[in-house]
Amino acid sequence: MISQKEYKKRRDKLGKKLSKDSVGIIYSASYKTRSNDTEYPYRQNSNFYYLTGFKEDNSCLVIVKTTNTVKTILFVQAKDKTKELWHGKRLGEKVAEKIFLVDEVHAISDLESELKIFLQNAKNLYFDFSLEYSKVKLLKKHTKGLAVHQNIALLINAMRLIKSPSEIALIKKAVKITKKAHHQAMNFSKSNKYEYELQAEIEYIFKSNGAYNDAYTSVVACGNSANTLHYIENNKPLVDNELILIDAGCEYEYYASDITRSIPVSGKFTQAQKELYNMILDTELKIIKMVKPKALRSDLQKKSEELLCKGMIKLGILKGDYKELIKKQEHKKYYPHGIGHWMGIDVHDECPYKYDNGDEIPLKKGMVLTIEPGIYIDKEDKSVAKKYRGIGIRIEDDILVTKNGCENLSAGIAKTVEEIEAISSTN
Ligand code: GLY
Ligand code: MN
Ligand code: MN
Repeated sequence: MISQKEYKKRRDKLGKKLSKDSVGIIYSASYKTRSNDTEYPYRQNSNFYYLTGFKEDNSCLVIVKTTNTVKTILFVQAKDKTKELWHGKRLGEKVAEKIFLVDEVHAISDLESELKIFLQNAKNLYFDFSLEYSKVKLLKKHTKGLAVHQNIALLINAMRLIKSPSEIALIKKAVKITKKAHHQAMNFSKSNKYEYELQAEIEYIFKSNGAYNDAYTSVVACGNSANTLHYIENNKPLVDNELILIDAGCEYEYYASDITRSIPVSGKFTQAQKELYNMILDTELKIIKMVKPKALRSDLQKKSEELLCKGMIKLGILKGDYKELIKKQEHKKYYPHGIGHWMGIDVHDECPYKYDNGDEIPLKKGMVLTIEPGIYIDKEDKSVAKKYRGIGIRIEDDILVTKNGCENLSAGIAKTVEEIEAISSTN
């Protein structure tokens, strides 16, 4: 749980970052149409949630900064019996006033008239530059005289880089539920079942443990499907002696987990799968050891490319001198993605990787990132020994940077060949 005091602290911090005589505005997310009369499940805008903890749509946070004062105003949907009958209960202004430690609460229907007044004396307007056009249009209508527009999302994204203890607790809870789901997948997997059946098991565990959303669409990719990085069809049968790449993580109270395990359909790795798997695992463990304050993510990337390239030479997948191969980027054919990314409210947390001057931001205590090396060998790739073709393996964990090093938050999820085989049922 994140307290209202913590949300207030975040708004205060943001208020300090705004220049004098400015208005900052952050909208809730809108519903997105799926097809006629149906919508995708609603998910609050991450930055709006980070500043308020409020999950309703059609709301808005406004920060008005003058020379000496900062005022926060939350706009919410007014109570409305008919609308609540169709779409669910709303807090309304009165209850919102009691819950949120803002200076004022108004009905969202008053937003335009109030904005007009706030903007009369302002010199700067801060809003999210990725805002949908209908809302930008409304802002433009009232900001003709304003010379400076700035992207408020960049300021909030930077604040989200370092996680507070309560945020870390929620990430840990998400990882704990995801651990159960991956272990269930290992146990449940059998040939003749379908990828989506495994997905259903995983997502059943998420929901039955209080994580009502996943952090992203689960990837359940058997055999060669694992060589499509964003495979989400999940509609093929599980085939004996193949590996399944499962990239699945729940979201718990708006905090993500992001875990990949590559497991054998029928409980036992083949010799070739083991060779490739252990090489990637060895790389992953070495990179995790490098995670500590002051380390650079670009160095983790470089080292992972070096280790995977050398590993592939050893297995005969790549041929030649590793320096030459890296120079020619030959390894990228099999390791095409990054070593990891920030994780938090978003699975790919939108926090910056660089300072404004272009320098890389080093790792600091309280950051959370994934480490996820992988190798993907297409079944049609004749340049590689047949035994390795059609295998795609990624191993992904969620890592918290600590004072002196790091904590692998997902260390409890079976990962070695022996651990995975011990949990898996054989058939
Ligand atoms: N699940 C998305 C990723 O690993 O980045
Ligand atoms: Mn990831
Ligand atoms: Mn992932």
